[in-house]
Amino acid sequence: MVDFKQDAGILIRLLEQYHEESRQKRQPVLQLPRLAELIAQLGLDRYVANGGLTGATLEGFIHRYLAATTRLHHPAYFAHQVAVPHYAGSLAAMVDGFTNNPMAIYEMGPAAAAIEYFIINWMLSKAGWAAMPPVPGEGMPGSHGAGVLTHGGSLANLTALIAARTRIAPNVWEAGVPGDLALLAPVQSHYSIARAAGILGLGKRAIYPLEVDAAGVVKADRLTAALRRVSDDGRRPMALVANACSTAVGRYDPLREIGDFCREHAIWFHVDGAHGASALLSPQRRALLAGIERADSLIWDAHKMLRTAPLCAAVLVRDHRDLEGAFHQEASYLFHAKRQPGVDLIHRTVECTKAALGLRLFMVLGALGERGLAEYVDRQSDRALEAYHYFQAQADFSCPVEPQSNILCFAYREWNEEHLRIRDRMIADGTFYLSTTQLNGRWYLRLVFMNPLSGMTEVEALANTLRVAAEAADW
Ligand SMILES: Cc1ncc(COP(=O)(O)O)c(C=O)c1O
Repeated sequence: MVDFKQDAGILIRLLEQYHEESRQKRQPVLQLPRLAELIAQLGLDRYVANGGLTGATLEGFIHRYLAATTRLHHPAYFAHQVAVPHYAGSLAAMVDGFTNNPMAIYEMGPAAAAIEYFIINWMLSKAGWAAMPPVPGEGMPGSHGAGVLTHGGSLANLTALIAARTRIAPNVWEAGVPGDLALLAPVQSHYSIARAAGILGLGKRAIYPLEVDAAGVVKADRLTAALRRVSDDGRRPMALVANACSTAVGRYDPLREIGDFCREHAIWFHVDGAHGASALLSPQRRALLAGIERADSLIWDAHKMLRTAPLCAAVLVRDHRDLEGAFHQEASYLFHAKRQPGVDLIHRTVECTKAALGLRLFMVLGALGERGLAEYVDRQSDRALEAYHYFQAQADFSCPVEPQSNILCFAYREWNEEHLRIRDRMIADGTFYLSTTQLNGRWYLRLVFMNPLSGMTEVEALANTLRVAAEAADW
């Protein structure tokens, strides 16, 4: 283990330098060398053939590796909804990588399982749902919620919809998928919803789009019409999905109205809060999720707005029986059949081997406290709003939608597909890293304020870069 201490020291030193040069913008936010050149440049063959990736050799390799990373710690990073991890979460990922406790069964990681149980209860309480009992299995049927951490929001959506499918078709694990199920979801849903429908064996035709307004937000007064379409086709609604918030523009669907509608018609109500559920931490913003208590399931990614190193996504259900029974033909509200001091979470997950995901979020929470994370959520959303007002005040820029989160879409003059080309140029020269999205048939540039260092300095510099590029553009 002499090498471990030495190599870990090298890595910490290089990561510290990396962090510093990124936050001070001494390197481009991203660089995209060609794949084959990069494989050669990293010298991968050599190490596989000869080994010896330690000490000075390791230092050289990691140096080259970091030079070809996309720098989330750079203030010009605005592209995707991926956390700029707090170092405490990254250290947690290292501890987990080292100890490797696949804790979906308690005996393979009691500390990790206990932390996950605790974290799930913390998240349940933020959603206003009853926590799991201190002694697993002692809760009354239906008296409390449950949850599990999983490797990403896409898998979390799939898990929640599996639970919904089992509720409406309890025989599904024996008899297969009934052909009359329907999934109602806004057009603006993340693609993982449609993908889950495919994996679940529903097929694309089973997805009924919910009508939305110009900002992509569900029109609650059009839900009845959507349900009528479902029943006219002879189908049964398996679940109805709402966004909190949407991926493209970051707006929240009206959960209270949708929740009332789902209750009235006994439809499973799933809330995709992968990005936006973190607003539950903020006293100022939690009203955006008013009505969440009416949902049957909620997903919430910590590796988006909770500064957590990848990955850590929660699937939460209001009634624990829904998750306990999700993967079985017969639901059971007992957490575990065997005698043991803890709890096995394996019955709730797609995965068998599962990382100690709770530790990643817990160590960030432990470092910043929940107030620190709430302040982060508020600060990032406030910055998006500030940028919105800035763009709206410029004659040559506009925003299609006022942001409710840290996601902001904007346009330069009348540009449409030109936004795609300009983004490609900025990526190529590494000045800014942002994304694009389509809304009502038009392309927009899209900023996601993930980095706590990004602010109006970057936004104004971006606006000027765009103006200069527009002058020089030959399209
Ligand atoms: C609303 C929403 N749901 C689900 C996902 C998928 O999450 P993940 O990337 O963790 O699989 C995303 C990702 O951006 C999202 O924005």
